Formats: sequence, C-alpha cells, structure tokens
Amino acid sequence: MNVPNHVAIILDGNGRWAKAKHMPRSYGHVVGCDNLEKVCYVARDLGIRYLTVYAFSTENWKRSKDEVEALMNLFRRYLKRCIKSSRENEMRVRVIGDASAFAPDIQESIRALEDFSKDYDKLHFQIALNYGGRDEILRAVTQIAQDAKEGKVPEGKMTEEFFESYLDTAGIPDPDLLIRTSGEQRLSNYLLWQLAYTEFYFTDIAWPDFHKPELIQAIEQYNRRDRRYGDAKEETNV
Ligand code: IPE
Ligand code: IPE
Ligand code: MG
Repeated sequence: MNVPNHVAIILDGNGRWAKAKHMPRSYGHVVGCDNLEKVCYVARDLGIRYLTVYAFSTENWKRSKDEVEALMNLFRRYLKRCIKSSRENEMRVRVIGDASAFAPDIQESIRALEDFSKDYDKLHFQIALNYGGRDEILRAVTQIAQDAKEGKVPEGKMTEEFFESYLDTAGIPDPDLLIRTSGEQRLSNYLLWQLAYTEFYFTDIAWPDFHKPELIQAIEQYNRRDRRYGDAKEETNV
C-alpha cells in the first residue's frame, strides 16, 4: 500500500452520531476527540508523515453558546492530553488558524504543546482551530501588505512559493488525500489554497466510527486513483 505523505481530514458528523444514540451533541464531540487521539497512533503506525485535521472552523462560532463552550472545554483537556501522545508518537503538533480568538489559557496550552513537541518529526500533526481558508488567505495578504510597506517584499511578480510562506501551513507540503466523514461533500472553507491538486474521499461513516480499517480503505481507494497534475500521462498500452 502506497501511503500518502499528507492526509487531511474534515472530522464531521459528531453531532448526528450522538443524536442517533439519543445523546447530546457534546457527547459526540467527546467520543470524536478520543477517536482523534487514536487515529494519530494509527497514522504514525501506517507511516503517514503529515496529518491535518479540521476541528473548529471560523464559522463554528455560530453554533449555540452551550455547544461552543463544551467544545472549548474539550479543547482545554485535549491540548493537555496531547502532550503525552506527542511524546509517544514522536509527533510534532502545530495549530493552524487564528488562535488569538481563544481564551488566554487555551492560547497558552497551544504554545506549550507546540513548544514541547517542536523537535519531533515522525508525524507532523496539524490541528485546525478557528481556521478558515479565506481567513488564512486574508491574514496572509494583510501581512504581505504590511511587510511591503517596510520594504521586505521583493518587487516584481509574486510567486506561489513566496505567498505560501505567509500561510499557516508554511513549510508543510500540500495534502495528497482529503477525507471528509459523515456524508457531506463540501470543503466548508478548509485549506482552500492547499487542496488545489488533492484527491478527495467522502464516506458516510461518522467521525466517531472512523477507525483504522476505514482509514486503510480510504488509502486503498486513493491508491487506485490516477493522479495527474494537468499533464498528459504516457499511455503504455496504445
Ligand atoms: C464535527 O461534527 C465537529 C465540529 C464541527 C466541531 P459536527 O458537530 O459538525 O457534527 P454534525 O455534522 O452536526 O453531525
Ligand atoms: C466543518 O464541519 C468544520 C469542522 C469539521 C471543524 P461543519 O459541520 O462545521 O461544516 P458545515 O456547516 O456542515 O459546512
Ligand atoms: Mg458537521
């Protein structure tokens, strides 16, 4: 099995999964969060080098106050627990998105986790929190304009490489495979720039039920794809 270098996942369906069990949505988030921890171990075992997950979007603030609060408390616990799994997996953890919107203690936990794990390189794990692809691009453009005023931007044509160096994912290769669980087939503002040539995989399985066999199935399907980048491939049997 040819394992993709970078897998991006939109962790979706926690709420519906819980509802089907006559449980509150926040229970779905708790189980989804436990599953995320397990999937990191699976990714490391399979030899995936980069894993980037969508955990909270810039649009998710629109949810009820109770749900947002429950998610923030979950992030508080998860970010602390992640120190242990980063050590066990030798995994570097980075948060992408605009963390400045979070409470100071959450921002501090993010800094502590990123700092603790910064020298690990077996798995690079990115968690998208208060992340939106459009917001990321606007923040990059704002910073470029600021740097241009200070004469730090080379004159002439803007290159993709230069622009990318201002994104939250600077230095991280683009995803090879995007997985979205729970049936929806949209990007919901995820990694708009980075997914330009990524293969997409959609499954009806809800995130709390997405385990090792489901990940392997996604990778096997990815292996059957004919990846192209706009070029015409040499046909061997014509
Ligand atoms: C994904 O599950 C987790 C977050 C967006 C935080 P959802 O909460 O979107 O679950 P559904 O899609 O409503 O079932
Ligand atoms: C996308 O899921 C965001 C995350 C998984 C964090 P949503 O459930 O919020 O997206 P929509 O509302 O269905 O597009
Ligand atoms: Mg959803």
